[in-house]
Amino acid sequence: MARVMKIRRVFENFVPYEWEISSQEVAKMANIPVEKVLRLDTNASPFVPKKWLSKLKEILPSLQVNQYPDTRYPELLDKVCKYANVREDCVVITNGADEGIDIVSKTFIDYGDKVIISAPTYSMLKISSQLAGAKVIEVPRKTHGFEDDVENIIQVCDREKANVIFLCNPNNPTGNFTEIEKIKGIVEETDSLVVVDEAYYEYCGKTAANLISRYPNIVIIRTLSKAFSLAGARVGYLLANEETVKKLNLVRPPNSLTVISIKLGAIALSDIQQMEEWVKKIVEERERLYNLLSSIEKIEAYPSETNFILFRVKDLDANIVHKKLLSKGICVRNLSDVRGLGNCLRVTVGTREQNNRFLQELEHMIGQ
Ligand SMILES: Cc1ncc(COP(=O)(O)O)c(C=O)c1O
Repeated sequence: MARVMKIRRVFENFVPYEWEISSQEVAKMANIPVEKVLRLDTNASPFVPKKWLSKLKEILPSLQVNQYPDTRYPELLDKVCKYANVREDCVVITNGADEGIDIVSKTFIDYGDKVIISAPTYSMLKISSQLAGAKVIEVPRKTHGFEDDVENIIQVCDREKANVIFLCNPNNPTGNFTEIEKIKGIVEETDSLVVVDEAYYEYCGKTAANLISRYPNIVIIRTLSKAFSLAGARVGYLLANEETVKKLNLVRPPNSLTVISIKLGAIALSDIQQMEEWVKKIVEERERLYNLLSSIEKIEAYPSETNFILFRVKDLDANIVHKKLLSKGICVRNLSDVRGLGNCLRVTVGTREQNNRFLQELEHMIGQ
């Protein structure tokens, strides 16, 4: 008789992360070579960091892949400290921001704890909390502009005795930014740990990181996956005060980065100017794309401080638009099932050429 293996109780009513469709599958649907598939669904950068890869290639023969990395990641740690303007004991290096979210959840959430999430937001914030055993309370964002509803978050936190609040600023998938003064209000008014996912920080230039020296109850999550073009290398970091970092280090796995990604991360952080050039290009393209989307009658585009744009299609089914785009080899994120985002899609800002291809197909299919 086949054995039925029991899994943890946290999986009752659990909605897992929706994995992105593979490029091979899209290529088959669109009948095009896989290189022609346009991935505008993951908010990654369209720029391949060729200069950094050439540097890595030079160094590659000397990398000791037969050894484990130095668990302190000293070179990368030093570069992160200089970039984020913090001391070494205020940083935890992670395998991307997702591992950062996981480490925070495992450090601060006990089974049955209440966690607040300002929704809709990045799905891994809820998933990680639930995996740690939390009961997640979703506080809806304001309907106009999607700002965090600060007063409500503080009230719910107080009433429910929540011990962690997850914020995402600027927020994925809505693209908006909540002013730092308001985040500070939450940090001051609650005894909970306030976790701010700043994966898209570089596209708006505003951060809550300065609060870590004054408050023990705030953790910032960052990544090199977006503005630094290193989504495939998996490098991220957490910023917090030294006592909080000591706690996070109880959970951090010793060797979750490879010697290759550590080196690539350090090379990237030695060339901030390159990252800033890419960000400038994306921000310019974002504004152009936003204006062009807004000029289409059947589309309502939302302003963004990130590298993506959320838009709602009117008098049309977003599921059909999503499918039709896939049939042309273009992937965007379908959010129409997310509460508060009915009939919405999210498109990553690409190069001018990529954005034009997307716009052309979109306009063609909605008959404008
Ligand atoms: C808000 C947010 N946080 C974290 C991540 C994951 O980043 P990483 O690639 O560093 O794991 C993403 C990826 O899309 C994101 O949008």
